[in-house]
Amino acid sequence: MNAVTATPPVLRLADVSHTYFSRRRRTTVLKNIDYAFERGTFYAILGPSGSGKTTLLSLASGLDTPSRGAISFHGRNLTEIGLGRFRNQHVATIFQQFNLLTYMTALQNVTTAMEITGAKPATGSRRARALHLLEQVGLDKATVTRNVLQLSGGQQQRVAIARALACDVDILFADEPTGNLDEDTAQGIIDTFRELAHEQGKCVVVVTHSQQLATQSDRVLHLRKGKLTEQVNAR
Ligand SMILES: Nc1ncnc2c1ncn2[C@@H]1O[C@H](COP(=O)(O)OP(=O)(O)OP(=O)(O)O)[C@@H](O)[C@H]1O
Ligand SMILES: [Mg+2]
Repeated sequence: MNAVTATPPVLRLADVSHTYFSRRRRTTVLKNIDYAFERGTFYAILGPSGSGKTTLLSLASGLDTPSRGAISFHGRNLTEIGLGRFRNQHVATIFQQFNLLTYMTALQNVTTAMEITGAKPATGSRRARALHLLEQVGLDKATVTRNVLQLSGGQQQRVAIARALACDVDILFADEPTGNLDEDTAQGIIDTFRELAHEQGKCVVVVTHSQQLATQSDRVLHLRKGKLTEQVNAR
């Protein structure tokens, strides 16, 4: 027996399949997916529209449970940890539709997320940390004190990114986070993701159609016909 015990990956999908049932139709979106996501790594998941990318993220982030198979975080099954607890303490998600609290300002969206998840900045107040993160994604003070419904799609997307960054968690999921952004703003976000993975050791998993993002990730995964495969790059 090997004396060295391998550390379990931050997130493992073991033989995961998922089927949606609606009226008489059943759609199997994911089929027998096995994959281990590691810390310190920036992943891009590509795939045609309707291939199940959002479904995969909702299972991996504990929003839903797979029809078959198991998902584990550092070797513990998500159902054992508790899906609510897992979502609250260990993952942050940037949703395709942003899911911002529409009766609040951009700044309040970020500070509220920090309060809910109990994220405490190393120095300074939550408000100061939130302002810093919002500035990092390119939003100035005048913009962030406006109600989010008064912001453009790209600005709302950046609020959603800042909110996810504010929750100091192990895994960051993002569903098309640069979809509404111009190339320069998108590059700033990609740089932030790379830094989170490479300097802070986070696991960053991003669903995207963007080649600009995919080419700068560490691993590119393709979802097609229910199967997840890793692209092998000759470097
Ligand atoms: N709640 C649901 N009930 C039934 N079918 C669903 C449900 N959610 C998604 N689907 C179906 O599952 C398939 C995968 O959907 P999903 O949203 O995961 O795709 P996607 O890869 O994220 O697509 P896009 O790139 O357009 O965002 C689609 O055929 C979709 O219609
Ligand atoms: Mg989707």
